[in-house]
Amino acid sequence: MKILIVTTNEGKLRELKNILSDLNVEFLSLKDVKEIVEVEEDKETFLENAIKKAVEYSKFYKLPVIAEDAGLEVDTLNGYPGVYSARFYSIDFGGKFEYENLSKDEKNNLKLLKLMEGKENRKARYKTVVAYYDYQKGIGFWTEGVCEGVIATKPEGTGGFGYDPLFIPEGYNKTMAQLTPEEKNRISHRGKAVAKLKELLKCVL
Ligand code: IMP
Repeated sequence: MKILIVTTNEGKLRELKNILSDLNVEFLSLKDVKEIVEVEEDKETFLENAIKKAVEYSKFYKLPVIAEDAGLEVDTLNGYPGVYSARFYSIDFGGKFEYENLSKDEKNNLKLLKLMEGKENRKARYKTVVAYYDYQKGIGFWTEGVCEGVIATKPEGTGGFGYDPLFIPEGYNKTMAQLTPEEKNRISHRGKAVAKLKELLKCVL
Protein backbone atom coordinates (compact mmCIF):
# COMPACT_ATOMS: atom_id res chain seq x y z
CA MET A 1 0.00 0.00 0.00
CA LYS A 2 1.12 3.54 -0.79
CA ILE A 3 0.37 6.63 1.30
CA LEU A 4 1.25 10.14 0.18
CA ILE A 5 2.51 12.44 2.95
CA VAL A 6 1.67 15.94 1.77
CA THR A 7 4.23 18.23 3.27
CA THR A 8 7.09 20.09 1.66
CA ASN A 9 8.65 20.69 5.06
CA GLU A 10 11.67 18.35 5.23
CA GLY A 11 11.73 18.48 9.03
CA LYS A 12 8.14 17.29 9.34
CA LEU A 13 8.56 14.62 6.68
CA ARG A 14 11.57 13.18 8.51
CA GLU A 15 9.69 13.09 11.80
CA LEU A 16 6.54 11.49 10.31
CA LYS A 17 8.45 8.81 8.37
CA ASN A 18 10.59 8.04 11.39
CA ILE A 19 7.55 7.18 13.54
CA LEU A 20 5.64 5.28 10.82
CA SER A 21 8.65 3.42 9.37
CA ASP A 22 7.72 0.01 10.78
CA LEU A 23 4.31 -0.09 9.03
CA ASN A 24 4.09 -2.15 5.85
CA VAL A 25 3.49 0.96 3.74
CA GLU A 26 5.44 2.73 1.02
CA PHE A 27 5.44 6.41 1.95
CA LEU A 28 5.57 8.92 -0.88
CA SER A 29 6.05 12.65 -0.56
CA LEU A 30 5.30 15.55 -2.88
CA LYS A 31 8.80 15.00 -4.30
CA ASP A 32 7.59 11.68 -5.79
CA VAL A 33 4.65 13.10 -7.77
CA LYS A 34 4.95 14.75 -11.18
CA GLU A 35 2.38 17.50 -10.94
CA ILE A 36 2.28 19.61 -7.79
CA VAL A 37 -1.16 20.91 -6.87
CA GLU A 38 -1.38 23.83 -4.42
CA VAL A 39 -3.90 23.62 -1.59
CA GLU A 40 -4.07 26.84 0.38
CA GLU A 41 -4.01 26.64 4.19
CA ASP A 42 -6.60 29.39 4.56
CA LYS A 43 -8.72 28.11 7.47
CA GLU A 44 -8.79 29.38 11.03
CA THR A 45 -7.93 26.13 12.81
CA PHE A 46 -5.29 23.42 12.45
CA LEU A 47 -8.10 20.85 12.18
CA GLU A 48 -9.85 22.52 9.25
CA ASN A 49 -6.56 23.04 7.39
CA ALA A 50 -5.41 19.44 7.92
CA ILE A 51 -8.76 17.97 6.79
CA LYS A 52 -8.94 20.30 3.78
CA LYS A 53 -5.47 19.25 2.64
CA ALA A 54 -6.06 15.51 3.20
CA VAL A 55 -9.33 15.53 1.23
CA GLU A 56 -8.20 17.71 -1.67
CA TYR A 57 -4.83 16.01 -2.19
CA SER A 58 -6.38 12.52 -1.96
CA LYS A 59 -9.02 13.47 -4.54
CA PHE A 60 -6.36 14.87 -6.88
CA TYR A 61 -3.68 12.18 -6.62
CA LYS A 62 -6.14 9.25 -6.12
CA LEU A 63 -3.99 8.03 -3.26
CA PRO A 64 -4.54 7.78 0.50
CA VAL A 65 -3.05 10.91 2.03
CA ILE A 66 -1.63 12.02 5.39
CA ALA A 67 -1.78 15.80 5.86
CA GLU A 68 -0.77 17.83 8.87
CA ASP A 69 -1.21 21.32 10.17
CA ALA A 70 0.73 22.48 13.18
CA GLY A 71 1.96 25.55 14.93
CA LEU A 72 2.98 27.32 18.08
CA GLU A 73 0.51 29.08 20.40
CA VAL A 74 1.95 31.65 22.81
CA ASP A 75 -0.32 32.65 25.71
CA THR A 76 0.84 36.24 26.12
CA LEU A 77 0.45 36.80 22.33
CA ASN A 78 -3.22 35.71 22.46
CA GLY A 79 -2.41 32.36 20.87
CA TYR A 80 -0.36 33.80 17.99
CA PRO A 81 1.44 32.73 15.81
CA GLY A 82 -1.06 29.80 15.71
CA VAL A 83 -2.18 28.96 12.16
CA TYR A 84 0.19 31.69 10.93
CA SER A 85 3.27 29.97 12.42
CA ALA A 86 4.98 29.26 9.09
CA ARG A 87 4.70 32.87 7.89
CA PHE A 88 4.58 34.75 11.20
CA TYR A 89 7.36 37.16 10.13
CA SER A 90 5.21 38.44 7.25
CA ILE A 91 1.84 39.05 8.93
CA ASP A 92 0.67 42.34 10.36
CA PHE A 93 0.48 41.11 13.97
CA GLY A 94 3.40 42.77 15.79
CA GLY A 95 4.88 44.26 12.61
CA LYS A 96 6.52 42.66 9.58
CA PHE A 97 10.04 41.25 9.78
CA GLU A 98 11.56 41.35 6.30
CA TYR A 99 15.31 40.77 6.59
CA GLU A 100 17.34 39.84 3.55
CA ASN A 101 19.45 36.68 3.59
CA LEU A 102 17.58 35.11 6.48
CA SER A 103 15.48 31.96 6.27
CA LYS A 104 11.77 32.05 7.12
CA ASP A 105 12.49 30.16 10.35
CA GLU A 106 15.14 32.73 11.34
CA LYS A 107 12.78 35.64 10.61
CA ASN A 108 9.95 33.98 12.55
CA ASN A 109 12.21 33.34 15.52
CA LEU A 110 13.58 36.89 15.53
CA LYS A 111 10.07 38.30 15.51
CA LEU A 112 8.95 36.00 18.32
CA LEU A 113 11.96 36.93 20.46
CA LYS A 114 11.31 40.62 19.87
CA LEU A 115 7.62 40.34 20.84
CA MET A 116 8.54 38.36 23.95
CA GLU A 117 11.10 40.89 25.20
CA GLY A 118 10.45 41.61 28.90
CA LYS A 119 7.42 39.27 29.07
CA GLU A 120 7.17 37.30 32.28
CA ASN A 121 4.56 34.82 31.14
CA ARG A 122 6.42 32.73 28.55
CA LYS A 123 3.99 29.80 28.41
CA ALA A 124 3.40 28.29 24.97
CA ARG A 125 2.47 25.04 23.29
CA TYR A 126 2.95 23.27 20.02
CA LYS A 127 -0.23 21.80 18.57
CA THR A 128 -0.72 19.55 15.61
CA VAL A 129 -3.59 17.84 13.82
CA VAL A 130 -2.75 14.93 11.54
CA ALA A 131 -5.47 13.84 9.10
CA TYR A 132 -5.73 10.70 6.96
CA TYR A 133 -8.09 10.47 4.02
CA ASP A 134 -8.58 7.84 1.35
CA TYR A 135 -10.86 9.36 -1.28
CA GLN A 136 -11.34 6.11 -3.17
CA LYS A 137 -12.51 4.19 -0.10
CA GLY A 138 -14.18 7.17 1.58
CA ILE A 139 -12.28 6.52 4.83
CA GLY A 140 -10.87 9.32 6.94
CA PHE A 141 -9.78 10.06 10.50
CA TRP A 142 -7.64 12.54 12.40
CA THR A 143 -5.71 12.80 15.64
CA GLU A 144 -4.14 15.63 17.56
CA GLY A 145 -1.15 16.18 19.81
CA VAL A 146 -0.06 18.94 22.16
CA CYS A 147 3.33 19.69 23.73
CA GLU A 148 3.43 22.29 26.52
CA GLY A 149 6.47 24.46 27.17
CA VAL A 150 7.92 27.96 27.49
CA ILE A 151 9.67 30.37 25.13
CA ALA A 152 13.41 30.76 25.85
CA THR A 153 15.11 34.16 26.00
CA LYS A 154 17.70 33.20 23.36
CA PRO A 155 17.92 30.50 20.67
CA GLU A 156 19.86 27.32 21.50
CA GLY A 157 20.53 24.07 19.65
CA THR A 158 20.66 23.03 16.02
CA GLY A 159 18.25 20.07 15.82
CA GLY A 160 14.60 20.03 14.74
CA PHE A 161 13.25 22.97 12.74
CA GLY A 162 11.03 26.04 13.02
CA TYR A 163 10.69 27.44 16.53
CA ASP A 164 12.59 24.52 18.14
CA PRO A 165 15.65 26.62 19.18
CA LEU A 166 13.28 28.82 21.23
CA PHE A 167 10.91 26.20 22.66
CA ILE A 168 11.72 24.61 26.03
CA PRO A 169 9.40 21.62 26.57
CA GLU A 170 7.79 21.23 30.00
CA GLY A 171 10.04 19.31 32.40
CA TYR A 172 13.23 20.07 30.44
CA ASN A 173 15.93 22.71 30.85
CA LYS A 174 16.98 22.66 27.21
CA THR A 175 15.29 23.58 23.98
CA MET A 176 13.58 21.21 21.55
CA ALA A 177 16.49 21.88 19.17
CA GLN A 178 18.89 20.40 21.75
CA LEU A 179 17.03 17.06 21.96
CA THR A 180 17.88 14.02 19.83
CA PRO A 181 15.32 13.23 17.09
CA GLU A 182 14.18 10.20 19.16
CA GLU A 183 13.67 12.35 22.29
CA LYS A 184 11.74 14.96 20.28
CA ASN A 185 9.48 12.31 18.72
CA ARG A 186 8.74 10.83 22.15
CA ILE A 187 7.46 14.08 23.65
CA SER A 188 6.48 16.30 20.72
CA HIS A 189 2.99 17.26 19.55
CA ARG A 190 3.70 15.54 16.22
CA GLY A 191 5.11 12.43 17.91
CA LYS A 192 1.97 12.06 20.03
CA ALA A 193 -0.47 12.70 17.18
CA VAL A 194 1.30 10.38 14.75
CA ALA A 195 1.60 7.59 17.34
CA LYS A 196 -2.21 7.74 17.73
CA LEU A 197 -2.69 7.89 13.96
CA LYS A 198 -0.49 4.83 13.57
CA GLU A 199 -2.89 2.76 15.71
CA LEU A 200 -5.84 3.86 13.53
CA LEU A 201 -3.88 3.19 10.34
CA LYS A 202 -3.31 -0.41 11.44
CA CYS A 203 -7.11 -0.91 11.19
CA VAL A 204 -7.23 0.08 7.50
CA LEU A 205 -4.03 -1.54 6.19
P1 IMP B 1 2.48 24.37 8.53
O1 IMP B 1 3.44 23.82 7.53
O2 IMP B 1 1.49 25.33 8.03
O3 IMP B 1 1.86 23.29 9.37
O4 IMP B 1 3.40 25.27 9.43
C1 IMP B 1 3.75 24.90 10.66
C2 IMP B 1 4.78 25.87 11.16
O5 IMP B 1 4.71 25.79 12.58
C3 IMP B 1 6.21 25.49 10.77
O6 IMP B 1 6.66 26.14 9.63
C4 IMP B 1 6.97 25.90 12.02
O7 IMP B 1 7.28 27.27 11.96
C5 IMP B 1 5.98 25.67 13.14
N1 IMP B 1 6.11 24.31 13.69
C6 IMP B 1 5.25 23.29 13.59
N2 IMP B 1 5.72 22.18 14.19
C7 IMP B 1 6.92 22.54 14.67
C8 IMP B 1 7.93 21.81 15.39
O8 IMP B 1 7.83 20.61 15.68
N3 IMP B 1 9.01 22.52 15.71
C9 IMP B 1 9.16 23.83 15.40
N4 IMP B 1 8.29 24.53 14.72
C10 IMP B 1 7.16 23.88 14.36
